[in-house]
Amino acid sequence: MVNQSNVSKKIQMRASIEWHQLVGVNEAIAPTPQNRLAVKQPPADPIPLQPSPSDHTHEVLASPKTLPRSSDQPKKSAIELAATANTLSALRRSLESFEGCTLMKTATNLVFADGQIGSKILFIGEAPGAEEDREGVPFVGPSGRLLDKMLASIELRRSDVMISNLVFWRPPGNRTPTQQEAAICMPFVERLIELVSPQILVPLGGPAAKSLLGQTQGIGRLRGKWYNFETSRTPYPIPSTPIFHPAYLLRTPMQKRTAWSDLRLIRNKLNSAQHT
Ligand code: URA
Repeated sequence: MVNQSNVSKKIQMRASIEWHQLVGVNEAIAPTPQNRLAVKQPPADPIPLQPSPSDHTHEVLASPKTLPRSSDQPKKSAIELAATANTLSALRRSLESFEGCTLMKTATNLVFADGQIGSKILFIGEAPGAEEDREGVPFVGPSGRLLDKMLASIELRRSDVMISNLVFWRPPGNRTPTQQEAAICMPFVERLIELVSPQILVPLGGPAAKSLLGQTQGIGRLRGKWYNFETSRTPYPIPSTPIFHPAYLLRTPMQKRTAWSDLRLIRNKLNSAQHT
C-alpha cells in the first residue's frame, strides 16, 4: 500500500530542491552549516597581499566605520570608505567593514585581490566563483587556470600581475552581478586601480569592460582596441584593453585565436613601454 505521508514528503523535498536550484543554491560548499546572517568578525590575519615598502607610508585608516543605510546609502558609504584607504591593506579592511553589498550575505569569503603590488598589469574579472569563494582568492578555479596559461603565452606569470573583480563576493549560483551590485562595489574597484596604478588595465569579459570603460557595446565589439581609464585621482589616463573572459573561452574554444591576438596587443604595449 502506498504511504501517503511518504509521497507528500517526497513531493515537498523535490519542490525544495527545485527551489534551491532556481535561486542558485546548487552545491554544498562547506561540511557544516553556516549562519550567514550572523555578524562577521574579521579574520585574524586578514591581509593576503605582501605589503611592499611603499605600502606602509599612508596608513590613515585605523578603523573605518560603516554608515547607516538608506537607498543610495550603500554607494555613498562605499565612496567614503574607499576614498580614505591609502594602501591596499587599508582598502581590504574598508571592504571588510563595509555592509552595503547584499552579495556578502550569501558568500563565504571576501575575495579581494591577488598578485604583486607594483604590477604593471591589473586584470579585473567579473565576480568570484565557487572555488574563489571557498579560498578567498580570485581566479583559482577553472577560469583562473586558463588565465594562467593566457598569461604564460605572453611571458607573464601570475606573480607578475594583479588580479581582482568587479564585485568582491560570489553572486549566488555564479550569476552575473547586477548593475546595482557592480555600482556599489565600483568605488572600491576604482580605488584599487588608483592604488595599483598599473601601466595597463585589462577588463576580463563584457560586464567588466562595460562597467570600467563606460561602454554599452558587447565584448565582441569592445575587444581589440585601446581605451583610457581615468578617475579624479589617477595620475594619468591608464591604457585599457578588454579581452574575452577565460570562462567564455572555456565554453567557446574557437575564440582562443582571437584572444591570443588580443594578448599580443598587451605584450606589444608592455614592450613599447619598456623601451620608452
Ligand atoms: N571568474 C571571475 O570573473 N573571477 C574570478 O575570480 C573567478 C572566475
